[in-house]
Amino acid sequence: MDRLTPDGGAMGAAYWDSGTRARRFAARTAGSAASDPLLARVRRVVRSSTTVLDVGAGPGRFSLALAPRVAEVVAVDASAAMGSLLRRAAREARLANVTVVTGRWEEVHVAPADVVLCSYVLPLIEGAAAFLAKLDAHCGAHCFVYLSALSPDILSEPFWRHFHGRPRQAGPTYLDAVAVLDELGIRADVEVVEVRVRTRYDNVAAAARSYREGLLLPDTAVVRRELRGLLAQWLVAEGDVWRPPLRTTPAAIIHWSPAAGSPPGRRKTPGRGREPGGGRAPSR
Ligand SMILES: C[S@@+](CC[C@H](N)C(=O)[O-])C[C@H]1O[C@@H](n2cnc3c(N)ncnc32)[C@H](O)[C@@H]1O
Repeated sequence: MDRLTPDGGAMGAAYWDSGTRARRFAARTAGSAASDPLLARVRRVVRSSTTVLDVGAGPGRFSLALAPRVAEVVAVDASAAMGSLLRRAAREARLANVTVVTGRWEEVHVAPADVVLCSYVLPLIEGAAAFLAKLDAHCGAHCFVYLSALSPDILSEPFWRHFHGRPRQAGPTYLDAVAVLDELGIRADVEVVEVRVRTRYDNVAAAARSYREGLLLPDTAVVRRELRGLLAQWLVAEGDVWRPPLRTTPAAIIHWSPAAGSPPGRRKTPGRGREPGGGRAPSR
C-alpha cells in the first residue's frame, strides 16, 4: 500500500491518526481480548509481579486485559490517536499501572520487561529483523508475536484481481516471521489458533468505502457501483449489519523464551540487542 499510494506512507502512524480510523478500530476490538487465544496463552506465564511491554498496543485490548493481573504494563504505539484512546480507557478502568509511550518501536527508549507482546503489527513493519531483534533484546522471560496465519489480503484478493487485472503480491505471514527469527538465531514455537472475524459494516455502501480504500481504487461513481454490486453478493447480512462470510480466521502465536534454551555462555542482556545482519547470530 505504501508503494502504491501516490504520496506514500499509507500504513504509518498517519494512517491510524487520520479521521476516525483509530476510534473505529478501538470499537471493533474493545473487549475482544477476553475470548482471544493470545490472552489465555499470555495469562499462563504472568504473575502479579510481572512487567509487560505491549508493542504496537493500539487502543490496548491486551494491555487493558492484562493490567489487573500484573505489576506494570508499558504500551508503545506509533499513533498518538491510539495512545490517547488507551490512556482514556485505562483511566476509566482505574488502571494506574498502564503507561503509554507514543513513538515507533524502532525509535523509542523503554526499559525491558518480563513479558513482551506484539499483536497484529509485524506485517506493517518494513524492517522486520531489526524490529524483532529489539523485541528480543527487551524481553526477560517470554516474547509473543501474534499475527494472521493467512496473508490478510487473501480475503480481498478476488476483488483485487477483478479491478487491477492481476494478482496482488501476497503480504507476509507468520511463516515469514519464523524465518526471520530463525535468521536471528531465535528458535520460536508456534501455535495456530482460530480468531473470530469481528469486521462488521453498517451497510454495503460502508463496506464498499472500506474495500475501495484497501484495494487502492479511485473514488468514482463507476467503482463505487461495481464494488457495491460485488460486495452485496459476497457479504452476509446478519441482523442490521453486514459481515464477511467467514466466522473465524487462523492466527499464529509465535513464542520464545530468551532465557530458556540458551547455550551456556550465550549473552542475554536485556536492552542490548544483537545487530541483525551484523555477523553470525548466536544459535539457541
Ligand atoms: C492492527 S493495530 C494492532 C493493535 C493491537 N496490538 C491489537 O492487536 O489490537 C496495529 C498497531 O500498530 C501500531 N504500529 C504500527 N507500526 C508501529 C511501529 N513501528 N511502532 C509502534 N507501533 C506501531 C499502529 O499504530 C497500530 O496501533
